[in-house]
Amino acid sequence: MGASLLSSPAFLVFFSFFTLGLLPGPVLGITRHYKFDIKLHNVTRLRNTKSIVSVNGQFPGPRIVAREGDQLLIKVVNHVSNNISIHWHGIRQLRSGWADGPAYVTQCPVQTGQSYVYNFTIVGQRGTLFWHAHISWLRATVYGPLVILPKRGVPYPFPKPYKEVPIIFGEWFNADPEAVISQALQTGGGPNVSDAYTINGLPGPLYNCSAKDTFKLKVKPGRTYLLRLINAALNDELFFSIANHTLTVVDVDAIYVKPFETETLLITPGQTTNVLLKTKPSYPSATFFMTARPYVTGQGTFDNSTVAGILEYESPSNSFHSSIKMLPLFKPILPALNDTSFATNFASKLRSLASAQYPANVPRKVDKHFFFTVGLGTSACQQNQTCQGPNGTKFAASVNNVSFTMPTTALLQSHFFGQSNGVYTPDFPINPIIPFNYTGTPPNNTMVSNGTKVVVLPFNTSVELIMQDTSILGAESHPLHLHGFNFFVVGQGFGNFDPNKDPANFNLVDPIERNTVGVPSGGWVAIRFLADNPGVWFMHCHLEVHTSWGLKMAWIVLDGKLPNQKLLPPPADLPKC
Ligand code: C2O
Repeated sequence: MGASLLSSPAFLVFFSFFTLGLLPGPVLGITRHYKFDIKLHNVTRLRNTKSIVSVNGQFPGPRIVAREGDQLLIKVVNHVSNNISIHWHGIRQLRSGWADGPAYVTQCPVQTGQSYVYNFTIVGQRGTLFWHAHISWLRATVYGPLVILPKRGVPYPFPKPYKEVPIIFGEWFNADPEAVISQALQTGGGPNVSDAYTINGLPGPLYNCSAKDTFKLKVKPGRTYLLRLINAALNDELFFSIANHTLTVVDVDAIYVKPFETETLLITPGQTTNVLLKTKPSYPSATFFMTARPYVTGQGTFDNSTVAGILEYESPSNSFHSSIKMLPLFKPILPALNDTSFATNFASKLRSLASAQYPANVPRKVDKHFFFTVGLGTSACQQNQTCQGPNGTKFAASVNNVSFTMPTTALLQSHFFGQSNGVYTPDFPINPIIPFNYTGTPPNNTMVSNGTKVVVLPFNTSVELIMQDTSILGAESHPLHLHGFNFFVVGQGFGNFDPNKDPANFNLVDPIERNTVGVPSGGWVAIRFLADNPGVWFMHCHLEVHTSWGLKMAWIVLDGKLPNQKLLPPPADLPKC
């Protein structure tokens, strides 16, 4: 039968379609299965051995690889004493909000001995994202790359790279990160800072006793490599550069961009960036550091150390050099730790590709305008306690002066089953309740209010949101991350947003589309998105310390009228609180 099929004319017609790439209709994705065993695992860094919470005993965790259009079924089994939940950072989760992952927002955490299957399909995204724990500070050690290849047969809109390499930045604490944050929340002071930054889990030679834990990128001359950069650090935006090499940015947050060249990149926690690295045309007889260190605008203490990896060229077989140790080593020069003009300049270079195939669907009309202040504040010290925050108070952080109180049950269930009473209220302020000079002399009263307040949006509302940094306890850049959506960054500036002047300069043609944006220190950013994804969507600063202090809130997007505009029902194994 096979033979007769081969000789039949029908097969030949089909075959020629296939070879010419004319196969009609969309190529359907496949289903990919992964299993994440959450367990303890011993790791030694900086001469310090400790037990960390990990996935499958790997640090960083396993790489997930899928194509656009694929369905992922990831079974998470919790073998540790901590509650756990995993977030697929940047995945849109169209109608599948139950799989998004933030604890107490879209699900109750997976408890010890329990499991949960995250089930979602990747739609309209290609590039690099990542996954991480989304409860307390467990993402310090529970994170890994999520690589999204284009659909089979669809090329990149740039030259095909010879090789692809994920480069994931992290932050290493010699202490237990869970103890660090719980102590800070108790005393009200700033948490202890990390001891090192890492590239693919390795701190590198600039730390004591750490040279053997160095990430090496071995390359051949005359080739193009695609580096998939991910900032999984807890609390620090990072500059990154490779000595004597230029990088071409081609994709951010799993969206193609207009390619541009740069020597140095800025990447905030929660952001991902694909860059092309063209190696030297011939063997350079040298090695090159790639380094990352923080961009810092706040007033608090921070980890000012530098992580280094090594770019190493494969030596020609007849090479005179027997050891790379004899080769000269070049080091990149990174911007100053507080180089805000670099940050501004870099942000202005990021543009959507906005081609016919990959259009920038910027909402042109706006149904609802929101103005949110984001920044720090204080909360009262309990009686009979002494607190280590500003003037004996506790540090807090807020959006429109509401410091978000985490509920003890998940918001999405409460919403879906119509049981919001006592869990959340739909009265999140759309503007600051008491306007002030946001970037001028701070007000005397810096106390935040508390609540579990959300914004409720009808399906398909087009939203414009201005996020305004405040100077309360010091201006600071805040990488704001929105779950469930990509948004377009239509404008940004310094000082207070001016609703009469600034919108005239908005870019509605090719603004960058992404899921995490840095609100400039002492400035504002304007984003637009279409609320076409029903569910409950968390929005928060991706500096984990600010999230812990309350710089977070949630949007509820209601179902649309059509069947394909409704949130799907919860899976049977959804964890209970
Ligand atoms: Cu990458 Cu809500 O987080």
